[in-house]
Amino acid sequence: MSQKLTAAITAIGGYVPEDRLTNADLEKMVNTNDEWIRTRTGVEERRILKGAGKATSDLCVPAVLELCQKRGIDPSEIECMIVATVTPDMYFPATANIVCDKIGATNAWGFDMSAACSGFLYALTTGAMYIESGRYRKVVVVGSDKMSAIVDYSDRTTCVIFGDGAGAVLLEPNLEGLGVLDSILRSDGSGRNFLHMKGGGSLHPASMETVANKEHYIYQEGQTVFKFAVKRMADVSAELMERNHLRSEDIAWLVPHQANKRIIDATANRMGLSHEKVMINIQRYGNTTAATIPLCLWDWESQLKKGDNLVLAAFGGGFTWGATWLKWGH
Ligand code: UT7
Repeated sequence: MSQKLTAAITAIGGYVPEDRLTNADLEKMVNTNDEWIRTRTGVEERRILKGAGKATSDLCVPAVLELCQKRGIDPSEIECMIVATVTPDMYFPATANIVCDKIGATNAWGFDMSAACSGFLYALTTGAMYIESGRYRKVVVVGSDKMSAIVDYSDRTTCVIFGDGAGAVLLEPNLEGLGVLDSILRSDGSGRNFLHMKGGGSLHPASMETVANKEHYIYQEGQTVFKFAVKRMADVSAELMERNHLRSEDIAWLVPHQANKRIIDATANRMGLSHEKVMINIQRYGNTTAATIPLCLWDWESQLKKGDNLVLAAFGGGFTWGATWLKWGH
């Protein structure tokens, strides 16, 4: 009798740029203060990718190379590369293609996935299905965003939140029941009114006017997004636990999207988890959009044990949201 094929995470890599943008730095740029930022968001500093010619793919490259090195594989062994991002290097080609070129993943095909802060969960679930189908044996899923490219550093309501970074995982077939076991993914496009980047798409192609109107920056109605995020991230996480008969004590870690410490706390409370079981690094990196969840896994890797039950949860632009149950694979 054949066992069910699952997609296990067999290696992880991450990258954050050297340059730090602290709350003290932001106090000099906009009318804000360290106390407000820390208490309302939880962020203390973020990393910023600086330098001409540096883009999202340059965040992905070190993360994917680290993963290959840890697993002892050559990039040419990667079969498929999915990059979750809302800050692609260019409109086209896909950043996934550029990353493959830069690392020598000459046998891989790939594509980008746009689901904002839920991008990593969407991409992880998709990548896992390629493994589960038996079609591929080495799929790399990256969450990467150079948010500094689309942040208006004169807008205090958004510039204090976001940072740059990338995290990557390798998915391989598993027959021991490890890896991605269930996902609930959702979307509601009416949320576009509250969180978007208006300019540059086919609706508002780049023009002098779109630039003058600052339409190439993030627009967010923070309070509205906050209300949806708190409810939906908590609801979907509770639903995932319920349908898999997972009790609080069965869960080793909650790995939440790092948008706001208060949203994370609400989700953990709803799941009945104490704060020691919640990965939080928002204070060091801010909200790196698609990169927050894999960067948590990267930071906590040494504390994870094979077979640990992890619940990954996110909410973001779209709106998009979801939760994934994962058994740690190495
Ligand atoms: O990851 C993608 C999904 N995004 C999210 O999940 C983000 C969800 N939203 C949030 O995290 C929060 O809404 C924010 C952190 C963006 C804002 O926090 P808030 O507690 O909702 O603040 P608010 O917008 O209600 O503003 C409260 C006050 C306002 O002043 P008044 O009108 O009360 O005088 C703002 O102008 O805080 C003011 N404010 C600031 N003050 C100092 C807004 N930004 C700042 C700032 N520094 N940076």
